[in-house]
Amino acid sequence: MEWSRAKRYKKFADWSQQEKDDLLNKIQHSPWRMDVHIQPKSGLLNDPNGFSYYNKKWHLFYQNYPMGPVHGLKAWYHLTSEDLTHWHEEGLSMIPDNEFDSHGCYSGSALPVGDKLFIMYTGNVRDENWERYPYQLGAWMNKDLRIEKIKRPLISSQPKNYTDHFRDPQVIHYNGAYYALIGAQNTQLEGEILLYKSTDLSSWTFWGPLAFAKQSLGFMIECPNLVFVDGVPLLIFCPQGLNKNVLDYQNIYPNVYLIGNHFDPDHAVFDSEQMINNLDEGFDVYATQAMNAPDGRALAVSWIGLPEIDYPTDQYGWAHCLSLVRELTIKDGNLYQNPVKETASLRTKHIHLQGQLHNQLTPIMHDCDRAYELDIELKGTGSGRLALADDGLNALDLLFDFDAGKLTLNRGHSGVQFAEAYGTTRTTTITRNGQINLHIFIDNSVAEIYVNHGRKVLTARFFPSDRQTQISLETNGHLDYNCDYWSLLNGKG
Ligand code: FRU
Repeated sequence: MEWSRAKRYKKFADWSQQEKDDLLNKIQHSPWRMDVHIQPKSGLLNDPNGFSYYNKKWHLFYQNYPMGPVHGLKAWYHLTSEDLTHWHEEGLSMIPDNEFDSHGCYSGSALPVGDKLFIMYTGNVRDENWERYPYQLGAWMNKDLRIEKIKRPLISSQPKNYTDHFRDPQVIHYNGAYYALIGAQNTQLEGEILLYKSTDLSSWTFWGPLAFAKQSLGFMIECPNLVFVDGVPLLIFCPQGLNKNVLDYQNIYPNVYLIGNHFDPDHAVFDSEQMINNLDEGFDVYATQAMNAPDGRALAVSWIGLPEIDYPTDQYGWAHCLSLVRELTIKDGNLYQNPVKETASLRTKHIHLQGQLHNQLTPIMHDCDRAYELDIELKGTGSGRLALADDGLNALDLLFDFDAGKLTLNRGHSGVQFAEAYGTTRTTTITRNGQINLHIFIDNSVAEIYVNHGRKVLTARFFPSDRQTQISLETNGHLDYNCDYWSLLNGKG
């Protein structure tokens, strides 16, 4: 099917019931749907938006083009939860319907204010010559989940010396004032984060480009987020076109973080002595949205998908998912990411496995569930392999080398291949002490791998056949394993 521009921007109301039914029917026949991850009901899912806690519930929205697996007219799809784990689909809640967001309700954030939820987002507008006009817009959601858009833009154009790449406001409340961090590109075609200030959420003043990095950060910064982890400021963002001398990465665009010393909004400074780092060392994480929850935790959720890449589910009319919600902590100056403790409420059947291997390959678990959690402690010598979704021929492999202190995720023979131009392996370092802890979530076509209690995370989509149901271990030395396995169910089925 040809996805012309006219088709991708056709109003949702102009799609026939037949076209919508055909799409849903196609999705119903898709392999690779997930059991516990948030996935689109139809079409394409991208960035998490408006992640917040309001009126005793967690709220999470995502960018959605509901008519197919392509980037088209974007809307916000809404979900609510009482435990950050079991999500209730509330449906499409903000769709492009006015002169300031006619070509997409783009990414943004939300903040509870009084008895309402304040939403700030980017309205994407194109004229007849396909010139772009970005507006930073506001909306209020009430307790009945009804969203009322504010009629007039909060920020009606980018400042002088910036291009039309100006989007993704994160609104925060800090030291008695409101601030918005907005992704931008200057006229020298460099990525920046712009800081805006407001005292009443309605009139916004450009406060300056945020000073936070010494190096140039590519041609555009998308999805900036500032959170505080036990008081330590942490900046998370997506620099597009980042020079690989600044940071090594293999994905088309990286999603990075920077730990700061302190945030000084008066002078638009985020002061840091650290280097930027990859937030996730796997294949598919982008557009992470982080926020400070009222219970004090810093929480993050990511789009598991990347721009400009085709995925095997496209042929079934849908694409991508969101990550589990992760809690961010900092220990000894290092960032840790772990699934929130509430994730344990998905556990059902438990199996404990333990054993020893000498220079051999052994299946340790047959007939795995579609969705499961594995917490495995490995101790040993030499190198080896943990094969997930294994059928003897194909597997998603985790190769560990205790001597070299390396861990490699290989999805090169894990099922249907895609995005091979960006490599089929990702490697990270581990301490060379002959042991490793891997906390793994497999949900049919997605893997989240938390290494050494969240010190590193590797996330990957992969597209196995239904014969790939085994977990195997291999070593060329000696290996002790001790592991807990739980099947996961979200209570829906
Ligand atoms: C990031 C992004 C954002 C934009 C949104 C549009 O993936 O490009 O910058 O707001 O997606 O869907």
